[in-house]
Amino acid sequence: MDTFAFIIHPIDPKRDVSRKFPLLGKVLTVKQINFFSTFFPPLYISEIDGVRSAATGKEIRGWFVACPYTPARMLELPEKTVYHKIVQTGNLARRLGAGLLGLGAFTSVVGDGGVTIARALPMPVTTGDSYTVAIAVEAVGEAARVMEIPMAGATAAVLGATGAIGSVAAELIAREAGAVLLVGRPQSAGRLEAVRDRIRSRPGTRAQVSLASDVGALAGADLILTVTSALDTVVEPEHLRPGAVVCDIARPRDVSARVAAVRDDVLVIDGGMVAVPGAVDFHFNFGFPPGMAYACMAETMTLALEGRFESFTLGKHISVEQVEEIARLASKHGFKLGGFRSFERAVTPEQIERVKAASARSRSARPREVHS
Ligand SMILES: NC(=O)c1ccc[n+]([C@@H]2O[C@H](COP(=O)([O-])OP(=O)(O)OC[C@H]3O[C@@H](n4cnc5c(N)ncnc54)[C@H](OP(=O)(O)O)[C@@H]3O)[C@@H](O)[C@H]2O)c1
Repeated sequence: MDTFAFIIHPIDPKRDVSRKFPLLGKVLTVKQINFFSTFFPPLYISEIDGVRSAATGKEIRGWFVACPYTPARMLELPEKTVYHKIVQTGNLARRLGAGLLGLGAFTSVVGDGGVTIARALPMPVTTGDSYTVAIAVEAVGEAARVMEIPMAGATAAVLGATGAIGSVAAELIAREAGAVLLVGRPQSAGRLEAVRDRIRSRPGTRAQVSLASDVGALAGADLILTVTSALDTVVEPEHLRPGAVVCDIARPRDVSARVAAVRDDVLVIDGGMVAVPGAVDFHFNFGFPPGMAYACMAETMTLALEGRFESFTLGKHISVEQVEEIARLASKHGFKLGGFRSFERAVTPEQIERVKAASARSRSARPREVHS
């Protein structure tokens, strides 16, 4: 049977350590978890079974393995040390029998986006970022539809637009939206301009493309895709216009919990949740409902189902063609967008109606604001 493994790691230190070690998660502080994670070995988490292609009936088997580092630790420690621990985790996956390895969350962000890690391992490696982009862009389109925001007239902002995921997502959104706003940090202005130039020169771009170096510019957007590698939240309630849709793919999250608490007139969705074909059992609760996976996990499973044991997505440049190809393969095997969640809860049709009503109220209270 063809096999795969996927590396996860603690993102919210106390919550995620509790999922495997309830007592440690309870007694250790975040600071202690960050510290001890340096000395922890890679960890076997669980077996994954029941993934079955809707097209061919092929079944695959997989494993979750964990790199113990938190995002904060991965940014603090020397790159070489972090690579070493991820490679050790990959070797654990290899000993389990994995034919292909997926890199979850920050294990794909660190350094050169998996290139060095893949070189040091005996099996192919994929970051999963291509399908993450495909699903996020689809989610933005679907959220616009349910919120009755016509894409062709909408301003869509991408925060983290210089990143591996953000830049190609912006390129794809620019084919549908009326205007695209690329938002990046002031120190990355040159790289942001390069992304803008690439999008403008791409055949099929219909949007006006503009740049901003201040997160406050998000207030001009109807649709926002946020995907930074910041450790702390960057999108706050005052950055959003009434009726805005925000798709947050970043892990740790970019959108502050304050947005959920005080802005009932915006729709925040967690990007990247995918329904897996077959009766999948992860034998581990990573916070999703049964049968659902992150898009980056789904990319790894798709490649294994297709028998494509190759390093499909590596590095910091992802092409539109890669995104389109993995989306086609995933769809063929039966993976699909798995509904919306917001701050780890399902978004119901009633909630969407409440957001629409609240945004209409907010707009009428601010009559001079124009909804593009
Ligand atoms: N949901 C999923 O399935 C999934 C899958 C894979 C990855 N992810 C998540 O996606 C995020 C981005 O991944 P990536 O591979 O695209 O990373 P990346 O290539 O390193 O890009 C990170 C982006 O974030 C920006 N950034 C970093 N710190 C920031 C800050 N403090 N404020 C504002 N912008 C900041 C960077 O801007 P500069 O150019 O200024 O440095 C860059 O544009 C990560 O959180 C990762 O965990 C999620």
